[in-house]
Amino acid sequence: MKFDTPATTNPIDQLKVVGRPIDRVEGALKTTGTARYAYERHDVAPNHAYGYVVGSAIAKGKIVSIDTSKAQRAPGVLAVVTAQNAGKLGKGDYNTAKLLGGPDIQHYHQAVAIVVAETFEQARAAAQLIKVDYARTGGAFDLASEKDKAIKPKDGDPDSVKGDFASAFAASAVKLDATYTTPDQSHAMMEPHATIAAWEGEKLTLWTANQMVDWSRGDVAKTLGVPKDNVRLVSPYIGGGFGGKLFVRADAVLAALGARAAGRPVAVALQRPLIMNNTTHRPATIQRIRIGASKDGKIDAIAHESWSGDLPGGGPETAVQQTRLLYAGANRMTATRLAVLDLPEGNAMRAPGEAAGLLALEIAVDEMAEKLGIDPVEFRILNDTQVDPEHPERPFSQRRFVECLRTGAQRFGWDKRVARPGSARDGRWLKGMGVAAAFRNNLVQKSAARVRLERNGRITVETDMTDIGTGSYTIIAQTAAEMLGVPVDRVDVRLGDSSFPVSAGSGGQWGGNSSTAGVYAASMKLREAIARKVGVDPSKASFENGEVVADGKRTSLAKAAADGELVGEDAMEYGDLAKRFQQSTFGAHFVEVRVDAATGEIRIERMLAVCAAGRILNPKTARSQVIGAMTMGAGAALMEELVVDKRLGFFVNHDLAGYEVPVHADIPHQDVVFLDETDPASSPMKAKGVGELGICGVGAAVANAVYNATGVRVRDYPVTLDKIIDKLPPLA
Ligand code: MOS
Repeated sequence: MKFDTPATTNPIDQLKVVGRPIDRVEGALKTTGTARYAYERHDVAPNHAYGYVVGSAIAKGKIVSIDTSKAQRAPGVLAVVTAQNAGKLGKGDYNTAKLLGGPDIQHYHQAVAIVVAETFEQARAAAQLIKVDYARTGGAFDLASEKDKAIKPKDGDPDSVKGDFASAFAASAVKLDATYTTPDQSHAMMEPHATIAAWEGEKLTLWTANQMVDWSRGDVAKTLGVPKDNVRLVSPYIGGGFGGKLFVRADAVLAALGARAAGRPVAVALQRPLIMNNTTHRPATIQRIRIGASKDGKIDAIAHESWSGDLPGGGPETAVQQTRLLYAGANRMTATRLAVLDLPEGNAMRAPGEAAGLLALEIAVDEMAEKLGIDPVEFRILNDTQVDPEHPERPFSQRRFVECLRTGAQRFGWDKRVARPGSARDGRWLKGMGVAAAFRNNLVQKSAARVRLERNGRITVETDMTDIGTGSYTIIAQTAAEMLGVPVDRVDVRLGDSSFPVSAGSGGQWGGNSSTAGVYAASMKLREAIARKVGVDPSKASFENGEVVADGKRTSLAKAAADGELVGEDAMEYGDLAKRFQQSTFGAHFVEVRVDAATGEIRIERMLAVCAAGRILNPKTARSQVIGAMTMGAGAALMEELVVDKRLGFFVNHDLAGYEVPVHADIPHQDVVFLDETDPASSPMKAKGVGELGICGVGAAVANAVYNATGVRVRDYPVTLDKIIDKLPPLA
């Protein structure tokens, strides 16, 4: 099915099942521990052995020699695989050849060996017996010192120019020119990257934790040099991804190599202390923002430049994206620059681009509002735009940013904010409120599904879509139930298997809308098949109460399938609506903090997000996405930072003891409001993404609240107490 004109009324609009806050359909499996995650698939590979990954002890250089003889003789060891005996690995689309390093080493904790043994403990003990001699060479590890060598990346956003920024900025009555930094961050998901690999002759099955089954199936095939048809990926439950599991990583490739060498299925979970340097991370940025406005607060000139680094051949953090679309202004420019760094690979993490970009932009906007003496909510409203500011002929499909701000301000009690920073007190606590915009583009991706009417009248949906904790099972069940007129408990959803039709996968907040649109397309096919089977005109048939109804004739679905199941399979594909309309999601974050006037301890008191993200398919799972993202944004604001050892080139705090993320005690009551909207340009579902929108801007709202509380402006994340303690207003 092709979606190339805005949606009109369709069966989803009935909202009998879609749009309801139903519980997760797989919730009981998860809470009872019976949903099996990748590393727990003893049921499918009961005789599997265990792999332990050895990471490089240097960031850059060469392995001079590697002696595995002692490890090979250690108790229980079945195989040791290194670059010397692995055979040549193909490059893959996502640097998969480098998932096993040697003799050249590209980054710290790059895998250099896997030890396979009968037990995990034996594999771990044997790994200590591998002797590696390295020749270390120097590398570039410090973004700030490499910044001036950064170049325009060949992939990624081009520089953008509209009007004459330099002249307009020079002539502006009120100006800001400030530089902000965001640190490297780790996805820090609960479930480590994990895979069980099993070969049957030339055929490989990977039970794994992966967001993008079809991408990864192709990449495994390219890496190992086997036909794609010989690879099956199974990834039905994923304990968090956040972009860290978009790609095949060392667990999958090394499990496959280890299993081949050992002649046994092999289970590998990347050891937690290895993950942060071995896998991908959100790269650090340096961002310079200039804003010029007239005295009455209209932006005339806006410029955003961002610098980040990556391994040779890598890509930039696209932190300027939102600045091209968020605020009006006739004269504008953005630029992205990329430096070569020999740190671990940078790549996508929840809302790549906007998450880091809004951390900077939304402090800059707060600073500008203060310079102008305008309330920061009003300043944003004053500079709203209903069209793409670079291409004014191109409207947004929906843009209710102003309503998000106004609704949020009203519900949060923004009128009680004391504008003068550092002047609201409650005993020893300094109090403050902050606001920031949320913005994230809405992407749509082709997505296929197969929907079956079983002989017993139940509906089964099959698609290789993944559920990374987001609620995919549930919204897909709701979609099929709505389309076929059955209650949600009559629908079985099977996900995450590469033998199912290829879906959009989970990434870029496109999964919810795109995968359900694929189920919509397949359900339409099934409706036709059912109508034809019972001898009615498909265009006149409706589906309700477990029956197909046409011309006053009612037939139960079970009866329609009595002599054989009926199947509908299709993909939703997209025309040029995303070109004709700028499709984005919007929100406003409001945060209240208190800061201890003596110690600088920062506590978040309240958080509110108001989101405009098209039809909300399930308000309960969508809310969970947003409060999770707000929590992650609180982490970005106050604690998350991979600390770079700039001499040796690695992330020092590479486990969950040293890399701090928010815990329950850090997070107060969170409110989420969804504006009631539908976006007919996005898909027949009229939904958009929300899973990444929720993190966008949160951190800046926290930083702005800290400023309002203390009068200390921190432009370098995270906002930790050492950055404010010397500058706090005197104790009352
Ligand atoms: Mo997302 S960072 O594309 O999983």
